Amino acid sequence: MTDNALAAAPTTEPSPPGRIAAEAGRRRTFAVISHPDAGKSTLTEALALHARAITEAGAVHGKAGRRSTVSDWMEMEKARGISITSTALQFPYRDCVINLLDTPGHADFSEDTYRVLTAVDCAVMLIDAAKGLEPQTLKLFQVCKHRGIPIITVINKWDRPGRHALELMDEIQSRIGLRPTPLTWPVGIAGDFKGVLDRRSGWFIRFTRTAGGATAAPEEHIAASDASEAAGVDWETAVEESELLSADGSDYERSTFLSGETTPTLFTSAALNFGVNQLLDVLVDLAPSPSGAADVDGALRAVESPFSAFVFKVQAGMDSAHRDRIAYARVVSGTFERGDVLTHAATGKPFVTKYAQSVFGQQRATLDTAWPGDVLGLANAAALRPGDTLYMDVPVQYPPIPSFSPEHFAVARGMDPSKHKQFRRGIEQLEQEGVVQVLRSDRRGEQAPVLAAVGPMQFEVATHRMATEIGAPISLEPLPYQVARVVDPADVEFMNKQVSSEVLTRTDGVLLVLFSTPWRLEGFQRDNPDIKLGSLVAAEG
Ligand code: G4P
Repeated sequence: MTDNALAAAPTTEPSPPGRIAAEAGRRRTFAVISHPDAGKSTLTEALALHARAITEAGAVHGKAGRRSTVSDWMEMEKARGISITSTALQFPYRDCVINLLDTPGHADFSEDTYRVLTAVDCAVMLIDAAKGLEPQTLKLFQVCKHRGIPIITVINKWDRPGRHALELMDEIQSRIGLRPTPLTWPVGIAGDFKGVLDRRSGWFIRFTRTAGGATAAPEEHIAASDASEAAGVDWETAVEESELLSADGSDYERSTFLSGETTPTLFTSAALNFGVNQLLDVLVDLAPSPSGAADVDGALRAVESPFSAFVFKVQAGMDSAHRDRIAYARVVSGTFERGDVLTHAATGKPFVTKYAQSVFGQQRATLDTAWPGDVLGLANAAALRPGDTLYMDVPVQYPPIPSFSPEHFAVARGMDPSKHKQFRRGIEQLEQEGVVQVLRSDRRGEQAPVLAAVGPMQFEVATHRMATEIGAPISLEPLPYQVARVVDPADVEFMNKQVSSEVLTRTDGVLLVLFSTPWRLEGFQRDNPDIKLGSLVAAEG
């Protein structure tokens, strides 16, 4: 049978709904949100190591000095030794299948980071024990909160001197209004990590160091009655503090975890592989499994329904030799078999999936079957855009992925006047793929669109692709704006008279007014309470 014949005529019968529900029930699809350097790459490696997807830590992320890895597809990434692109890591643990969606780990934010959060059922908020809540963690937390994503908190680097555990709990509660309900409590202060008190069983889990943390750290489970002898005063302190937490109402509760009011909390040292087992167990035991999704009309598409998925990310230029483009789609319902012909809801056209892949670092394995919660990497996906729906048999359309509020703005100009057609097409293509948002105004003209991004890295990707892939190099002139708000058409004239703000139209027709700083915006709102300015995402203040 040829590939085409395979694509046109899938031979498998649809799976019975019971099988689909069971497979969905085994899936745990989550992302780690953290500030750079909190240890996300290290934790990712440790999780995969514990689940035995890889045999030695160091095989996942391509940080300088580590083994080559997940996503050095783009030259820029290689040069910097960082991971720009998001990938999905799938591994089995106990009787579950874990899908860990990677968010870019560098300081520069991008919309990709946010979009990944549209595709998860749960997030792990990773916090450096010495630093507490940091800006990027806070931003990502707001998106999770807005989307109602339950959060598991992990206090990492407990092997290093850091803050007091109770103080960190207070900070989380008071700054973001999320009540930590610790499942484990450290035995030994930060910098002297002996193990954890498992607050549900009351047992002491003692950790033992291994050389460099390169293999799974051995742990001993010691009954409470023997723990004092094993850990002395550190055990007594942990027990006392745990009792304080209980008295304060900080014990785990499923309903408030799922509704986003409380966060089960764990203590780890990802570098030493301490506490990583506990995190995997918590994901399996407590994290929600896929439960279908609401369509544009608000109707629920249950996991047992025929196949459907939505694209949450499009990655182009990963392999310069092939100019391929991969669309990452999260399966919402049904089952997927490689070769299935899907329908692209936006155009009604068939989408052939003989190139479906699962992506694990650079090893792209061919994917044969996927279930709700899994991520499909669809190659040759020129027609797919972030937010697009794919389905089989029964049509469905999921709501578009929200566009996030840009914080960086720059005027794009073609460097070669003879390439103005390529310039226009290229900018349009980058916009459709969601690489940047594009704003225009009569004053600036068609030849000088304003590119808008959540993080400046998006500009680098745009510049790189315009030069190498589209063949119309551009120069970017940064604009002195940091904040965008939606403005009513009736107020445009008034807004355009303001000093240091400017109104532009996004391609979808939304009118945005740009301000130089958040303080300038605040001052304007104070002075002009009658002018109503809207946020791009409700998560923003
Ligand atoms: P990121 O992806 O969140 O940016 O963080 P990453 O895992 O790269 O970790 C940042 C630094 O913190 C790394 O050190 C890493 O080894 C260290 N680290 C991560 N988890 C722990 C932990 O639990 N305990 C301790 N003590 N350190 C931790 P580096 O010096 O930047 O890199 P490397 O030389 O270790 O590779």
